Amino acid sequence: MSAAPIHVALEPGADLDGFRRAARRLIGEQRPPEAVVWSSGGGCDLFGPSPNADGAPLMLPKAVADLIGLAALHSDPERYARLYALIWRTIRGERHLIEIASDPLVHRLQAMAKSVRRDIHKMHAFVRFRQVHAAAGERYIAWFEPEHFIVAAVADFFVTRFRGMSWAILTPKGSLAWDRRALTIGPPAQRGAAPDRDDFEAHWLDYYESTFNPARVNPTMMKSEMPVKYWRNLPEAALIPRLIQEAAPRVEAMIANEARMSEKRTPQKAVAAMADQAPASLEALNRIIMASEPPAPFAPRAVLGEGPVGARLAFVGEQPGDQEDIEGRPFVGPAGQVLNRALAEAGIARNQTYVTNAVKNFKFKPAGKRRLHQTPTAGEVKHYRWWLDRELELVHPRLVVALGATATLALAGKPLPITRNRGPADLGGRAGFITVHPSYLLRLPDEAEKRAAYEAFVSDLKRARALAEAA
Ligand code: URA
Repeated sequence: MSAAPIHVALEPGADLDGFRRAARRLIGEQRPPEAVVWSSGGGCDLFGPSPNADGAPLMLPKAVADLIGLAALHSDPERYARLYALIWRTIRGERHLIEIASDPLVHRLQAMAKSVRRDIHKMHAFVRFRQVHAAAGERYIAWFEPEHFIVAAVADFFVTRFRGMSWAILTPKGSLAWDRRALTIGPPAQRGAAPDRDDFEAHWLDYYESTFNPARVNPTMMKSEMPVKYWRNLPEAALIPRLIQEAAPRVEAMIANEARMSEKRTPQKAVAAMADQAPASLEALNRIIMASEPPAPFAPRAVLGEGPVGARLAFVGEQPGDQEDIEGRPFVGPAGQVLNRALAEAGIARNQTYVTNAVKNFKFKPAGKRRLHQTPTAGEVKHYRWWLDRELELVHPRLVVALGATATLALAGKPLPITRNRGPADLGGRAGFITVHPSYLLRLPDEAEKRAAYEAFVSDLKRARALAEAA
């Protein structure tokens, strides 16, 4: 007569810790998979007290441990039973089981892990926040319906990306709330708890429509990349059928424009021509920049220049940093604070100048939860140079100030050492002025040296202001 099966009740959702503890104990007690009934959602009797409470650690190949970490988030009620069977077989002689893709159990678990990975990717891409005005200030709330129990698994991504905002993501499988300091992982929520629309939505729809590239439209791929089930929570989805319908005539017009273009073009110009023959306004150029994909290690969001067309002075930095990428505006992080203070001391109103960057996307290396700034290569600076040139042509400042070495390289088209070239300079045929980057001042370790460098920076800005006024 076989013994009654043992019941293991785990917490609702993805109880990875509970599963690992139970698996260690079951393996320690030599319970075969067919002798265990797994349930999730609480309420069941967990197996009784045992002398080896949590069991000894399991020595599993890394690939098995990784697979457990993903497949345990799947919504299949059989996930724990399948994973326990995998552990049992791996521990009891089939050490290389995970490598046998044709094994039905491995095949099924790999497919589950793939589906979880895809769900995580979709959640990263399709969460849309709506702004709410609460007594404590601005807050952003999003509603999303993941397929699997991935809410905790995506938390780091959203905290890193939206660290400076107070937000909540509500889902029927759990919720996340970030108050700029701490993260709370909470219970499932209901659709009605998230707002439907906000003031920002009309701008977002305008932006989506203006950056929609008819030449790239492929409805089949679009539906596989952005499955229809997500559309009901995506404000831009309502625009898609009409944009697809209009795509063919728009592409024909673009091709006709293309044929009229001159033969001699740099590759970047050709890319721009596909979207807009010759951007006649800063807005049109910005649409091209926003619609273009950056080279590999860059953040996807382009941070555009800011300030009035026709400003007398334009400032060019290196690239957006972490804070700029999050807020979508140039020079708003620590270097931006230094720049703002120095501009004010030099008698320059920042909102009457044009502020931009040589490179429009943040280049970084992930380091745990942080994103570490990486200096762009000369090739990457060149990639963005055509845009910077058009941008300055359209803004048409009297004087362009290069902040640091990257901006100088982008504007002059060749490297010029700052120490020897500091001051008025010809920057690619434009009246320019070379000075240090404000983040250089932040890096100086010695306080007295830092103060002196800051004073020199302010006096550079005063000189630049006088030159622009006299021009
Ligand atoms: N550094 C830059 O060069 N640009 C920014 O926008 C921020 C920091």
